[in-house]
Amino acid sequence: MVVLAVANQKGGVGKTFVVCQLGFYLAARPLPTLVLELDHQMNATRSLRRGGRAVLAGFTTLDVLEGRAGALPEGELVLVPANPGLAALERQPRRHNDYVNALQAFLTGVGPRFAACLIDTHPSPDVRYAAALAVADYLLSPVQLNQEAIDGIAALLQHERYGYHKLRQLLNPKLELIGILPNLVEPTPFQRANLRQLVLHHPGLLIPARRAGVSGYAYIPTRTAVAEAQAAGVPLWQLRQAVPPALAGQVAPEAMPLRSAARDAWREIQPSFAAIAARMGLGAAP
Ligand SMILES: Nc1ncnc2c1ncn2[C@@H]1O[C@H](COP(=O)(O)OP(=O)(O)O)[C@@H](O)[C@H]1O
Ligand SMILES: [Mg+2]
Repeated sequence: MVVLAVANQKGGVGKTFVVCQLGFYLAARPLPTLVLELDHQMNATRSLRRGGRAVLAGFTTLDVLEGRAGALPEGELVLVPANPGLAALERQPRRHNDYVNALQAFLTGVGPRFAACLIDTHPSPDVRYAAALAVADYLLSPVQLNQEAIDGIAALLQHERYGYHKLRQLLNPKLELIGILPNLVEPTPFQRANLRQLVLHHPGLLIPARRAGVSGYAYIPTRTAVAEAQAAGVPLWQLRQAVPPALAGQVAPEAMPLRSAARDAWREIQPSFAAIAARMGLGAAP
């Protein structure tokens, strides 16, 4: 099992979107995938619970960190949900090492069953963030193409306690930075200029990806269907049209046609996910 931490010290950049949709993508291949949500805001948990496509563990990541996880249920996509109590762990500094060790022991135990574990993190650097990066093999960081986010890349790498280089040196020498994934990308001159700046200043941080035989970088465009699929908790490529009010109660939601805009969005995004999976050693997509 390879472990991917999806992290960025900013909210609203698409961490939860990447974890959920990459989870669907890997599970559909089919590669048994485990999702752990460490964010006490529970957005991934709510989304995946609503969609019913992931099997939920009967315990939370708080139980995992506190060393009382139970057995996981069967399933191609399994979620260990978050718990609001996760926010309190920071205030127990004497137990911080225990949390990291408990997470590591849990992953070692379940490792043989899964191809991948995706960890959704919350935006502030603290013990949960450090724990995720301490146990991960790979780090992926979604970013937005604005100046603030680009400046934030320096913190992602160089933060004196929680920067990639520091964590790698102190906690986890095997941690490999897959790179940054520009998300919510718009075809505006401003964003193009920021992308050029990224390519110039951090060329090794973008993730090479091929689209229709043309090489470029992995990125995710802004698409309404992404937010809708996340709200519904379903794979983007399986998002269906809503039942019109006039037919409410007469037509099952599963009988509605697939949304063509969602499938188009998935076609744009899939090469980026394929590139990320390949970097995780999960082979080329079919
Ligand atoms: N590429 C995108 N296009 C449209 N909406 C997006 C996109 N990526 C994320 N969103 C939406 O933006 C919001 C924030 O994304 P989320 O994944 O929750 O960010 P984070 O976990 O980093 O806080 C969510 O409502 C999500 O559905
Ligand atoms: Mg989130």
